[in-house]
Amino acid sequence: MSILYQSDPVRGRVWQKIFAQHVPDIEFHVGSENVDLSAVEYLIAWEPSSDLLQALPNLQIVFSVGAGVDHLDLSVVSPRVQIVRMVEPGIVNGMVEYVTMCVLALHRNLPEYLGSQANREWREIDVVPASSRGVGVLGLGVLGQAVLERLGTFGYRRYGWSRTLKELPGVCCYAGQEALNAFLGQCDILICLLPLTEATRGILDQRLFSALPRGASLINVGRGAQLNQDALLAALDAGQLSRAILDVVDPEPLPQAHPFWEHPRIWITPHIASMAQPETAALAVLDNLRRYRSGEPLHGAVDRDRGY
Ligand code: NDP
Ligand code: OXD
Repeated sequence: MSILYQSDPVRGRVWQKIFAQHVPDIEFHVGSENVDLSAVEYLIAWEPSSDLLQALPNLQIVFSVGAGVDHLDLSVVSPRVQIVRMVEPGIVNGMVEYVTMCVLALHRNLPEYLGSQANREWREIDVVPASSRGVGVLGLGVLGQAVLERLGTFGYRRYGWSRTLKELPGVCCYAGQEALNAFLGQCDILICLLPLTEATRGILDQRLFSALPRGASLINVGRGAQLNQDALLAALDAGQLSRAILDVVDPEPLPQAHPFWEHPRIWITPHIASMAQPETAALAVLDNLRRYRSGEPLHGAVDRDRGY
């Protein structure tokens, strides 16, 4: 039995060390060179090629090193193979940090102050209390819930939207298409933490923007393909949206000539909001392997029909 790790090799060596400490009897390969692929039962990968997936006849589980699995071509993975997304504290902490940083920057007018400094302009903007600012999260999964919990410490009014209704302390929760507009109407700052599926592709569109309070801001940390780019530019031009912070775009990297780069009210980061930390992610996969062997349900098991 062996495990194949097919992602960043430097991080892979950290995984390998942790596996050697905990399960020395399992072979852990970083990269597929000179590996007997017929012995590989578990694949840990970000974006494995279809060729690799098809070359593993005894594969049992694909562990994504990311929380999202939209980049995996599930059509070439046998239905008997389980797909597991990454659920681990490192990825959660990173996302909570990033989104908190963005919400505070927008709330305390950091982009405006950077603009003032560039113009040598000493201009104060009134401070709005957090309690009068509505912050909403699209997607109340592992990450969306953690983000909302932390934002609660600042006193924002908090809102959340998901497919199935949730009950979260201090958060006003909405579910389903029919409740989307009521949710959006509360959100001065909207954060997208949805997985990319056929249902969420292009969801950040003109119709959605028009249901937000005028002058709202968008933080997209879900996936680039959830955003209709022309609709964002039009909403910013029209003042319906005041700002956007985009950690994910489509395509990635963002092409050199893309208008987002120079837009005065868009901030771009290169898909760095959060990533699995080998030290904690390896322990999460080890725990899932133990669960698998004892017939328990796995944390982060993907429902192929739902797509996440
Ligand atoms: P989860 O699977 O835990 O949560 C997904 C949430 O989205 C659930 O609440 C789900 O609803 C909701 N959802 C899915 N489809 C719909 C829909 N059609 N309508 C309404 N709600 C829907 O995922 P995570 O929280 O772990 O991760 C979310 C995403 O964040 C990832 O898929 C990835 O795209 C992105 N990500 C980005 C990173 C970055 O660096 N930018 C890093 C990590 C993740 P329900 O609960 O009812 O099922
Ligand atoms: C993820 C990501 O899905 O980094 O984990 O985008």
